[in-house]
Amino acid sequence: MAVNQSPAWKALQFHAADLEQQHLKDMFSANPERFQQFSFSAAHCLLDLSKQRMSSHTLQLLNDLAEQQSLKQKILAMFDGEVVNPSESRPALHTALRQPENNPLSVNGTDVNAEVHRSLAKMEKLVNQIHNQQWRGFDGSPIKSVVNIGVGGSDLGPLMTCRALGQFASEQIRAMDIHFVSSMDGSQLARLLNKLDPASTLFIVSSKSFTTIDTLANANTALEWLINASDVPPEIITQHHFIGVTATPAKAVEWGIPEQNQLHFWDWTGGRYSMWSVIGMAIALQVGYDNFRRFLDGAWAMDCHFKDSALDSNLPVLLALTEVWNINFLNIHAHAVLPYDGRLEHLPAYLEQLEMESNGKSVSLSGEPISYATCPILWGEVGPNAQHAFYQLLHQGTEAVMCDFIAPALRYEDQSEELQKQHQLALANCLAQSRLLALGDSVLEDADSAPAHKRYRGNQPSTTIMLDRLTPESFGALIAMYEHKVYVQSVIWEINPFDQWGVELGKQVATSLLSSFDDTSPDYTAADNTDSSTAGLIRFVQDLRRENS
Ligand code: F6P
Repeated sequence: MAVNQSPAWKALQFHAADLEQQHLKDMFSANPERFQQFSFSAAHCLLDLSKQRMSSHTLQLLNDLAEQQSLKQKILAMFDGEVVNPSESRPALHTALRQPENNPLSVNGTDVNAEVHRSLAKMEKLVNQIHNQQWRGFDGSPIKSVVNIGVGGSDLGPLMTCRALGQFASEQIRAMDIHFVSSMDGSQLARLLNKLDPASTLFIVSSKSFTTIDTLANANTALEWLINASDVPPEIITQHHFIGVTATPAKAVEWGIPEQNQLHFWDWTGGRYSMWSVIGMAIALQVGYDNFRRFLDGAWAMDCHFKDSALDSNLPVLLALTEVWNINFLNIHAHAVLPYDGRLEHLPAYLEQLEMESNGKSVSLSGEPISYATCPILWGEVGPNAQHAFYQLLHQGTEAVMCDFIAPALRYEDQSEELQKQHQLALANCLAQSRLLALGDSVLEDADSAPAHKRYRGNQPSTTIMLDRLTPESFGALIAMYEHKVYVQSVIWEINPFDQWGVELGKQVATSLLSSFDDTSPDYTAADNTDSSTAGLIRFVQDLRRENS
């Protein structure tokens, strides 16, 4: 039976018909204890669900749905290394990447805990060599700049975390610049190469598959730049200027990165779940290996909470079920991620990949098309900037949107008073916005007399996540909470969150079109197996190139 035909789902539908009529402002005035009842804490994170359109009974019914879907067993199955990614016949063991040492976990006869720690130890060694200036460029210069070349999971996680935790770098480490290059068109790389010094620049080519054309194109350009800037053979360049991070070592060797310059991870690490592995090399270079380990420990604390806590006080479970409630029972299909801390500027993009690449699915685990909504459309921006951009739609548009507000309670504790005031300003705005979205202009005394264009209807649900402070531990816990939320939702929706077949076909079609842009290629016509739009656009480029050549 499909989940949307099940008793627990039907009970929620019935309940929603009643609750849909209620406004959040009435729920708050009827129950002064709402915050106490709907807020939960673990691992440095406070989760406030009181501004969600639900009652205690809703949570009870959602809990019944989770139990009906055998959530507890499925959580354990993931941690134990069972095959939870059936379309690729793999476990998904990102939790093993942050598990402390000496906790054997056997998968197909291999102790993955020991493998993970061997791989991290090699990364630690390389990081220390680079920090201690023992790693040198082709002319003996110490490395001053590092460029991570990767895309998707091999870029977004390290980039986000370097920006979030950059303040944790020591003075020695701060002297090192870390850059990120992902876009296949070369614009980021071209800009960077203009200002970097070849002899003191190290490239980390991060790619699980080592076949991603975006990454290889950037790596080839970087290699050409280094070869042109030196008079040493290419193999000396790759030896001194490239580190390969991959789950496919043979491909990295084929590209030219020697084995000793490689760091390895495994096919059971999904790309978007990989920054906890050696894909986190850039993070460790930015903040130091010890802080990288603190980040893993924070995630592990959330993992333990997720694995061991009861469903009704389990943060990732509650976060997931609340969103299931919004999507499947209140028909809300847009989700804004709004951090009120500029250090979290890349969190929205990271969550866009994590959630939409994982749960953007319309076929069940058993291969049947499904008839209920899954992942919503997710987008976001640093909250204070978004206030001046798209909040108009949140407050007065026609779409229902659920929002996540994220902020640290404390910041700038040992810094200037002005900076502390700036943090207070950000917090006041964060709370004002979620309050207005929930209650509408009922927060004002004379709102009724305002003209229609000045009215705020409210009743837009939101979750507030407060960290005590932004530290490696709390940030690790925050991201692990979102990862587990995605898994819980996939269990409810009976879909596979660990594959991404929907991005494969585009790559194949691009490969088949590539040669048409070659200078020697003949005039393109719709007869060349494409539609008239694609053919017309290719001809437009071809004609312009010929005119200008
Ligand atoms: O876009 C698809 C994808 O496979 C992502 O899942 C992944 O994070 C990204 O490409 C990069 O892949 P790789 O690390 O193999 O280069």
